[in-house]
Amino acid sequence: MKLCIALDLEHQEQNLKLLENLHNFPNLWVKVGLRSYIRDGKNFLNLIKQINPEFKIFLDLKLYDIPNTMIDSALECAKLNVDMITIHTSSGRIAMSALMQSLKSLQKRPLVFGVTALTSFDNSTFEEIYHTSIDTQATLLAKIAYESNLDGIVCSAYESLSIKQHTHKDFLTLTPGIRPFAEDADDQKRVATIQQAYENQSDFIVVGRPIYKSANPILTVKKIYEEIEKCKS
Ligand code: C5P
Repeated sequence: MKLCIALDLEHQEQNLKLLENLHNFPNLWVKVGLRSYIRDGKNFLNLIKQINPEFKIFLDLKLYDIPNTMIDSALECAKLNVDMITIHTSSGRIAMSALMQSLKSLQKRPLVFGVTALTSFDNSTFEEIYHTSIDTQATLLAKIAYESNLDGIVCSAYESLSIKQHTHKDFLTLTPGIRPFAEDADDQKRVATIQQAYENQSDFIVVGRPIYKSANPILTVKKIYEEIEKCKS
């Protein structure tokens, strides 16, 4: 299970400073989401690589559009040399399959993860929109994403294991909403601990505010690494 840090701070300098202090942690993934990418763009990705070329970059733009626009946008993301991107699974089978087909022709392509139900939904707010439970919908969307050749799924830790059981054990899951040490849930509803994510076979955990809002982010990351090791033993 790998840690992915969400770089959602208010200023580019704050994100870079955080990373400079973390450059010694092995196998660290860094997530550039909408806020940072809209503000700081491609140059931010280059600056991250300058701090440590080994950092893996996850560009979390959650593409959701008609197939043609999604394909073109995914190809543009691939040109940025990032290691992982996200799309919405509710974009459907045709968009997802075509997008994966067009990325296949590249020498190097990012992993593509499909968002199912955002971790900020609880069952009642989800049902208001989709008229079904999170579990049912996430499983259905995951199956379509698997059949469309995506690499994995974004879901909460609570759906991770069940999604693997309904698709394939090697179909990757990435779980945001992790609160390692009982921190505030903030706007997240389906929050989980590292242990819960591990037990549900999550491949990547995403942690943002519990790290960058903590009094000592380096120590928090160190403790997260220790907690992951503890789960493995
Ligand atoms: O601060 P926190 O740990 O809640 O950050 C979670 C990060 O994961 C945010 O950057 C958010 O955009 C992202 N994310 C999420 N739920 C998803 C997909 C992405 O929380 N389903």
